[in-house]
Amino acid sequence: MLTLAIESSCDETACAVIKDGREVLSNIISSQIDIHRKFGGVVPEIASRKHIEAINNIIQEALDEANCKFEDIDMIGVTQGPGLIGALLVGLSTAKALAYGLDIPLIGVNHIHGHICANFIEHRDLEPPFTCLVVSGGHTYLLNVRDYTDFELVGRTRDDAAGEAFDKVARSLGLPYPGGPHIDRLAKEGDKDSISFPRVYLEDDSYDFSFSGLKTAVLNYLNQEKQKGQEISIENVAASFQQAVLDILVDKSFKLANETGSKKIVLAGGVAANQGLREMMEERGTKEGIQIYYPSRILCTDNAAMIGSAAYYNYRKGLISGLSLNAEPNLGLN
Ligand code: KG4
Ligand code: ZN
Repeated sequence: MLTLAIESSCDETACAVIKDGREVLSNIISSQIDIHRKFGGVVPEIASRKHIEAINNIIQEALDEANCKFEDIDMIGVTQGPGLIGALLVGLSTAKALAYGLDIPLIGVNHIHGHICANFIEHRDLEPPFTCLVVSGGHTYLLNVRDYTDFELVGRTRDDAAGEAFDKVARSLGLPYPGGPHIDRLAKEGDKDSISFPRVYLEDDSYDFSFSGLKTAVLNYLNQEKQKGQEISIENVAASFQQAVLDILVDKSFKLANETGSKKIVLAGGVAANQGLREMMEERGTKEGIQIYYPSRILCTDNAAMIGSAAYYNYRKGLISGLSLNAEPNLGLN
């Protein structure tokens, strides 16, 4: 089965052709990051307009690179939500037109489901069930993935998403958007034990997360040091902040894996690109006999290949959308 998949939920216009849910024939991503950077974050109205300008060319490029024609495609997969409404509608309207014109099934995909499925592309032998940590710019979820389309949501952030915390702290350090990769790079040069930032674990039995207190602690630290006229080491701030985030992400993921007896922890979403997170997970995984999986960097951040994989598994489950499918900016995982 060949799926043509479209992703336009935020600031990447992406199209991919995927074979049987796991094999990437093409994966084209046109990023708008350079345009949004001067505003310090994504401007929704600009994002929608740029998607419209890019989408037809991106689709043609994806077909060309996969060496196929529209007639070869068996289904259209598209991100239905969560995301920016205007941005989502560009991908969704295009997908509907294609499905209608080609008379093939239209499959709506939850963006978070897509992030999880990036791992099925990367690791051809990976199968559910597993423990999954989804950490992106907009979401932080801890899940029991019971099957390809069946998830139990065990924990989520109560305020900022992990990636959002990275981006906000980076901004306060004067680093460009998106700040996650910059913090990751600077953290390698800093001392993670130099500044004591809080770790918020919430209630003993809770798998939820909270990062806004940590973000405020970093801001307070920066203000106090400036007032004292002290020179600030952004490497040390990056390393100490990152370690505070990672301690919580790693501890809660292993707690859940151990509680459910899972021997696999799967990372997904943009923050899964973080080198420190990958290393810390793998180190602890080796000690506790738990295998760690994560996608290559290009599949961690937003792309359409992951949407094509999720669409395929939805299709296998009979989860086919009609042409009345609408964009859902706040779409939940189940
Ligand atoms: O999954 P994604 O591309 O978009 C959403 O669905 O939100 O995630 C983007 C987020 C941004 O917050 C970005 O700063 C973060 O992922 N990110 C990272 C790294 N690479 C991307 N955070 C920490 N370390 C990284 N290496
Ligand atoms: Zn995403």
